[in-house]
This record gives sequence, structure tokens and C-alpha cells, in this order.
Amino acid sequence: MNAQAAFMDTDFTQLLVNTVDSGEDANKRALTNTVLAPRFYTTDFDAMDKIDVSSVRQEWDIMMQEYEGDNNHDHFQRDEGFALEVKSLMEKLDENLKQEFYDFLIGSLTSEFSGCILYNEVRKNIDNPDIKKLMSFMARDESRHAGFLNQSLKDFNFGIDLGELKRTKKYTFFKPKFIFYATYLSEKIGYARYITIFRQLEKHPDKRFHPIFKWFERWCNDEYRHGESFALIMRADPKLLKGINIWWIRFFLLAVYATMYVRDHTRPALHNAMGLKATEYDFAVFRITSEISKQVFPILLDIDHPKFKEGLDQLTALSLKMNETNEKSGLFKYLKKGWLAAQAFVVFTKLYFIPVIKSELPQQVRLSPSW
Ligand SMILES: [Fe+2]
Ligand SMILES: [Fe+2]
Repeated sequence: MNAQAAFMDTDFTQLLVNTVDSGEDANKRALTNTVLAPRFYTTDFDAMDKIDVSSVRQEWDIMMQEYEGDNNHDHFQRDEGFALEVKSLMEKLDENLKQEFYDFLIGSLTSEFSGCILYNEVRKNIDNPDIKKLMSFMARDESRHAGFLNQSLKDFNFGIDLGELKRTKKYTFFKPKFIFYATYLSEKIGYARYITIFRQLEKHPDKRFHPIFKWFERWCNDEYRHGESFALIMRADPKLLKGINIWWIRFFLLAVYATMYVRDHTRPALHNAMGLKATEYDFAVFRITSEISKQVFPILLDIDHPKFKEGLDQLTALSLKMNETNEKSGLFKYLKKGWLAAQAFVVFTKLYFIPVIKSELPQQVRLSPSW
């Protein structure tokens, strides 16, 4: 995927359904493929089979012991009060918040399940014992996460048919190195998002409108460890972290950050309900992710550069206009969408060329989750 292809995608923000009022709607929403929606991936399995982690063996083996120890094996079970609590809490919520929360659950489920499918497919198609073992542990975790989210969707009769989703959703092919950059970032950003929400609701329990948020602390440690795995894989092959690849890292950092920012700004009610402002929340998440990513990426985005936030706000405004255009019809709609996509591409390019911050790679790769 390249930046231009992403921004010229005519389905920039078009959802297959606007509101989720039934199980059918929820399943259609999960199928949606837009620039902002989570995707399913496939990759080059022969190249995956050739990964060699011998240069990071010591840290790798410690990590594998942690996976084996499986300290979250009993975590993804609901207690008796869960469904009852959901019922009484959700009855009080207004329709906007409910819709944004459903979108949050469906989006999270789709990305958890996306990891589960990818890791399982890699596992099945390779013989490399290190990577095969890692993939089976990560698939185990993601399948628990996806199942746990689906239980919450089932409370509203919006359960997602995962078998059907696996068969019918479009798959995007990424070379292994792009899988590493993108997946590393999505695991670490996932950690940063969950821990930021958990800490906020720990301080303000009255804002915890759904019990699922209580599970986020131990949950996000799984995501953190998945990110550590990709950090070790990349550090084991230094050419992935220099030369032209630095431009790719820069692209993925920006694409992941910008997507999150735009998407979160389309869900104001969800953030308000938790007592968070979308902009502050996103910048807190960027800061944590940038700090962690020093373990592997030799550059950081300058998130404090005045043009950075300005550019993200412009992308958000363009995305909202794109949504409005989706409601129109005919030739005008396509011209307008093309024009908005071209503008988004220009803004993205400007953001891409904001000077980055260089960072020295530490000798020890692994870092403990201390946020
Ligand atoms: Fe997960
Ligand atoms: Fe994960």
C-alpha cells in the first residue's frame, strides 16, 4: 500500500451501514473496508519462514517463557454480574453514545480478529520453530480478546459471525516488513490506548459506563508483549531499520497516528462519556507510543511541531466533509470526493515531510510496560 493509493481510495470513509440497529448491521459494519476501518492481512509465508532471531536469542527466550507462563489464561472470563451491570448501565445511555460504543466494540473486535487470522495463517504455513511458536501464542491471545469483545456485542444481540467474516472480508497483501511496521505499531498503540482509558477510569470510576473497561489493564499487557515480539524480529534484522526503510517507518508511523486521530474525532460522545477530550487522549497515546517505539525505530515523529496537530485537524475536517458527501448522489458526489481525497493527499504529504526526530537504538530491546 502507498499513501497515494490509500487517499485515492474512493471508499475513504463510506460505511456499509450508518447506524447499528441489528445483528445484520453489526456484521455489515465489520465487513467495511475503508482507510479508517481495520483490515485483514495476508503475507509472504516463505519470507516469514526465513526469519532468524538468533542475534536476539537471549531476550527472545525470556519472552517465550512469558508466553508459556500465560498469566492471562483466566482473565477473559466474565463474572456473574457482568451482563446485569451492562443492562442497567446501558439503559441510561443516550443513542449517540450507544452508536459510538457499538462502533468501538465492532472496530476493536475486527482488529483483534484480524491479528488472530494473520498469526494463525503464518503459523500454519511455516516450519520455522521460533516463529511458529510465537504465532500460536499470539493467535491464542487474540482469539481470547476477540471472543471477549464478541460476548459484549452479543449482550445487545449484535454478535459477529467470525467464520463468515473470515470468509468474506477482503484481505490486503503486505510484504513481511510492512506487516512488522504496521503490526508493531498497532500492538503498541493498542496498549497505549487501553492503558490510558484504564488509568482515566481508575481515577473516575463514575465515568466507567461499561464493565469491559475493567478488563483493560491485564488485557493491554498481552498487546504490549505482542509488540515486543515484533520489536525483537525487527532488531534481529538491522536492514529493516535503515536506509530506504526509514522512509517506510515514517510512512507507517504517520498513517497509524493519523488514522487513529481522525477516527477518534468522529466519536466525540464516547470520549466525553469517559471524561476524555479526543485531542488530549490521542496526544497522550502518541506520547506513550513514541516513547516505546524508541526500542526499535531510529526516528520519531515530531508530534509537538505546530504543523503536526494542524495537519491532523485538516485531515479530520476533510474526513467529515467526505462523510457528508457520501449522503449525496450522482456525478457531483464523485467529483467532490475526488477533490477531497486529493486535498487529503496533499495534507498527508505535508505532514510526512515535517522533520523527524532521530533516536539512538538502545542495546537492550525489551522495555517493561510502566504506564
Ligand atoms: Fe489483542
Ligand atoms: Fe495483540
